[in-house]
Amino acid sequence: MTNPSLLILPGDGIGPEVMAEVRKIIDWFGTRGLAFNVSEDLVGGAAYDAHGTPLHDDTMAKAQEVDAVLLGAVGGPNYDALDFSVKPERGLLRLRKEMDLFANLRPAQCFDALADFSSLKKEVVSGLDIMIVRELTSGVYFGEPRGIHVEGNERVGINTQRYTESEIDRVARAAFDLARKRDGRLCSMEKANVMESGILWREVVQAVGDKDYPDVELSHMYADAGAMQLTRWPKQFDVIVTDNLFGDLLSDLAAMLTGSLGMLPSASLGAPMENGRPKALYEPVHGSAPDIAGQGKANPIACILSFAMALRYSFDRGAEADRLEKAVEDVLADGLRTADLLGEEGATPVSTAEMGDAIVTKLPTSA
Ligand code: IPM
Ligand code: MG
Repeated sequence: MTNPSLLILPGDGIGPEVMAEVRKIIDWFGTRGLAFNVSEDLVGGAAYDAHGTPLHDDTMAKAQEVDAVLLGAVGGPNYDALDFSVKPERGLLRLRKEMDLFANLRPAQCFDALADFSSLKKEVVSGLDIMIVRELTSGVYFGEPRGIHVEGNERVGINTQRYTESEIDRVARAAFDLARKRDGRLCSMEKANVMESGILWREVVQAVGDKDYPDVELSHMYADAGAMQLTRWPKQFDVIVTDNLFGDLLSDLAAMLTGSLGMLPSASLGAPMENGRPKALYEPVHGSAPDIAGQGKANPIACILSFAMALRYSFDRGAEADRLEKAVEDVLADGLRTADLLGEEGATPVSTAEMGDAIVTKLPTSA
């Protein structure tokens, strides 16, 4: 049997720093009977600097072949002035689109040790464990027509929200399947009160539920009310399914409930490949954080937990994923904090590398 393959795309800003810590974890598993065939390449601004494009065709081809892609972050102020078509974010969007990664899983889990750190009251967030399933390959991010045109004597910016029934159907199924493995509750969010695409979304999700998931408790909410409910009493939710743009917003909101964006992983999954594994890309929810890049301040946990999701969803290694998540919990319980996890008058933070090392030492000696 050949080792499973992993393509690492550290990207920009803090991406390379946090990925270096994930490499330590990968190496740890590698010497304990779970070796990966790891290759590394460029994405985002780093790829633009080298090739004049945020994603080289060769990198795209590699991403299509591997068992899983692990991405750091893309973007930065150096690239703000670039033409839209070559901005770092286009590299990430191309990966999502061409790999057809339609289901983006964004868990928001509040670690006990960090419950005090949330901007919300402790009782509102402690024990929180919700999963947002964001549609990732369609909607207003990709809909046509789009662009900036001149009409008469002024410019008009245009984007199109567009969803087909099959696009809604497949992401709904992914969310129902997850709900079934969790608490059995799914809340679908759209704006059916103002958008036709929202009306269709609601109808299709309801039809999928009625037909194939009668055991899952389905509810619907307008996305604005959903945002309010997420801050009011987030524990009312188990799994949330929503479109690409609402999912982008709601997942940042949900992430912050847990204390820091530096904690939140994500998995973007597509259809199964020939070997039965889903096409998959794993990345932290946080961005490239250019303001702290290169200073050893970044929190590597989101990226490390993204690798844990890869173990779980791509490699069927749930036990190893549990171990890694437990190691993260343990270092937090010990009081280790990167700068993002400290309040104003907090103690001295540990560096990115110190956090990575501490997590490795918490891994049990036998895998
Ligand atoms: C995210 C990010 C991306 C998005 C950007 C970087 C293109 O905000 O993954 O949530 O908008 O999808
Ligand atoms: Mg976002």
